[in-house]
Amino acid sequence: MDWVDLRSDTVTKPTPAMRAAMAGAEVGDDVYGEDPTVNALQQRMADELGFETALFVPSGTQSNLLALMAHCERGDEYLVGMDAHTYKYEGGGAAVLGSIQPQPIPHAPDGTLPLEQIRTAIKPVDPHFARTRLLALENTWHGRVLPMDYLAAAHDLARAHGLALHLDGARLYNAAVTSGVSARAIARGFDSVSVCLSKGLGAPVGSVLAGSSVLIGKARRWRKVLGGGWRQAGLLAAAGLYALDHHVARLAEDHARAAALAAGLATIPQLKVLGQHTNMVFVDVPARSLQALDVHLRAAGIRIGIGYLPTLRLVTHLDVDDEGIARTLDAFAGFFAGR
Ligand SMILES: Cc1ncc(COP(=O)(O)O)c(C=O)c1O
Repeated sequence: MDWVDLRSDTVTKPTPAMRAAMAGAEVGDDVYGEDPTVNALQQRMADELGFETALFVPSGTQSNLLALMAHCERGDEYLVGMDAHTYKYEGGGAAVLGSIQPQPIPHAPDGTLPLEQIRTAIKPVDPHFARTRLLALENTWHGRVLPMDYLAAAHDLARAHGLALHLDGARLYNAAVTSGVSARAIARGFDSVSVCLSKGLGAPVGSVLAGSSVLIGKARRWRKVLGGGWRQAGLLAAAGLYALDHHVARLAEDHARAAALAAGLATIPQLKVLGQHTNMVFVDVPARSLQALDVHLRAAGIRIGIGYLPTLRLVTHLDVDDEGIARTLDAFAGFFAGR
């Protein structure tokens, strides 16, 4: 079956050209810092995002955790969105492995963390409290691009209180492509930025954490401690380099397909399309129909994630083409016809 998999943009498979780039990669032992392809990827990302250096790591989860552990010490606190990936979907790693207390802050509907709530969450210097050290933002958040003037104001607030800033930019390039603002400009002012290569960019594995030499030195040590010191990782870094060369501008196609999907779903009376942001579509489906809808879609070769109920999140990516969108719309329409 030729599946249309709308569960996530993490499901992409490397293209034949990407596989060829991987097969031809020069490699060395990255724990010794001797893998030329890893070094090239790290240098490229550091240059592109405007940082001194960068570190190639297995996952976005590890990248965020390394950043938190490099910024904070035991008994420190970081401010983070209540629905941020770092806080909610990474197994509580900051607290579990870093002894770092999270202070979650509810998101505004546009994905920002309201400045007043950040301000009131910052603890006074007092032995009663954990030491507030870091503000972590996520961009895109549920596909939404954080406004640049919000970023500037959040940076000013964090700096005024002596906080460092981390960006979970798992989908930073989706934000850049849709807003026409460079990834470097979006990353400016943060002390560390994590970017995933294995989501919309279509690499099989890997994220990059960019920051100062001192910060990345600490992150490199924690990466080793966490078992992330990999060896001939250049095979994977080659996929990342290929993705940066060939899969950034095309993210606009994913966004256009998400818009087409949202527009088509909006014509089905039983559905309520809540919004489309970059490569994500959010739609409410009558709860009683969900299981049957899932079975119907699977029979048509379409996978959806029903884990975010009551709202469906449908994600477009490199492996979803126009035919896949058309098939999805037909299958939804067929299911709801006459119901
Ligand atoms: C916003 C965000 N940050 C971080 C991650 C973690 O990435 P990984 O799955 O590579 O650990 C994800 C994963 O989907 C994500 O959506």
